Amino acid sequence: MVASGARAVARCDELGVAPYSDAPDMLFRAYLTPAFAATQRAIAGWMQQAGMETRIDEAANLIGRYAGTGDGPPLIIGSHIDSVRDGGNYDGPLGVMLGIECVAALHAAGKRAPFPIEVYAFGDEEGSRFPASMLTSRAVAGTLDPADLEVGDRTGQSLDEALAPFELSTLTYAKAAHGPALAYLEAHIEQGPVLESEGLAVGVVTGIASQLRYELTVTGRAGHAGTTTMSLRSDALTAAAEMVLAAERIARDAASDVVATVGRLIAGPGAPNVIPGRVGFTLDVRSLDPTRRNAAAEAILAEFEAVAARRGTALATEQVNDFAASPCDPELIGLLSAAFGDQPQFSLPSGAGHDAMTMAALCPTAMLFIRCKGGVSHNPAEHVDPADVEIALQVMLGFIYALGDTQ
Ligand code: GLV
Ligand code: MN
Ligand code: MN
Repeated sequence: MVASGARAVARCDELGVAPYSDAPDMLFRAYLTPAFAATQRAIAGWMQQAGMETRIDEAANLIGRYAGTGDGPPLIIGSHIDSVRDGGNYDGPLGVMLGIECVAALHAAGKRAPFPIEVYAFGDEEGSRFPASMLTSRAVAGTLDPADLEVGDRTGQSLDEALAPFELSTLTYAKAAHGPALAYLEAHIEQGPVLESEGLAVGVVTGIASQLRYELTVTGRAGHAGTTTMSLRSDALTAAAEMVLAAERIARDAASDVVATVGRLIAGPGAPNVIPGRVGFTLDVRSLDPTRRNAAAEAILAEFEAVAARRGTALATEQVNDFAASPCDPELIGLLSAAFGDQPQFSLPSGAGHDAMTMAALCPTAMLFIRCKGGVSHNPAEHVDPADVEIALQVMLGFIYALGDTQ
């Protein structure tokens, strides 16, 4: 079968179920799980069929390499293969499949670029297992701090323990750092409604919003639900509920591109007849403008402290991520736009985070967005039209040829 957008979509669909999902009734593929390993094996086979040599690096990223006519710094094409819990099939894997299709098209035509092409299937972008995200692309970009690796998942398993079945360790993780790279290209579903509302299949990304992520714990006093009068309670869950609403109100009142989300909240001990004594929750705050983002986050955290004090609870706050806004490279944007051919030119920013934002520390980056139905993502209803993905493939191939002409 020749390289095609339809095959890229079909492969994402194939990866959407067991054994490529850790859950029987939904897609959930977390970093370093059995489903993750099975997914790497399937993708490595597809990479080899496309003419690539494959390897797994020290951070458990899968890499396919297609030699160029020259042996200088490579063009890296990538995205991630981990998913959110109950996610869709295309967030991440589609960018990896498109990288493979680009190489398959070159290979079938007996062509090589003047530079090597490396397709990266990054392992951890979502942060859906450990309280950290983009660990593996940060390792490749060489920006990880050793302390970032001292994390454990919700079952108490450490990153080091999770790496062991892959015969890897946090001690050597940083060796995944890449040498010089020519450029990084990532194709991704838009995850928003703009392209659909414009009636466009693809758009060039101008830059990626900055992100802050926190893990918070509210501690009250667990007690008997029948005997503790309302005035004598220190309920961690009602305090957390007020905090969640405060985050929403402050982000809304900013009336800008600032968004704030509490995406996970776990109340303990978790029984109908026990007043919750402890609540853990996450807070994610984003904006293209880091000053606006920081102002909103500061206001939200100050309000959280005020709520905690008023309700006689304690609040512990840990910042787990601070990703700077990441503008895409103007020259690469020019090459990608030129590759649009007959497609109408359109550019847009990204509110979602991507490995491209961490790879920007290594080399110039470019991103191509693909229309997705209703803008729906992080949801099993995620849908992309194979015809749009075919257009994306042709734009990516045009980009590779244009980049070759600059060498
Ligand atoms: C990744 O999907 C993110 O934007 O959080
Ligand atoms: Mn995602
Ligand atoms: Mn993604």
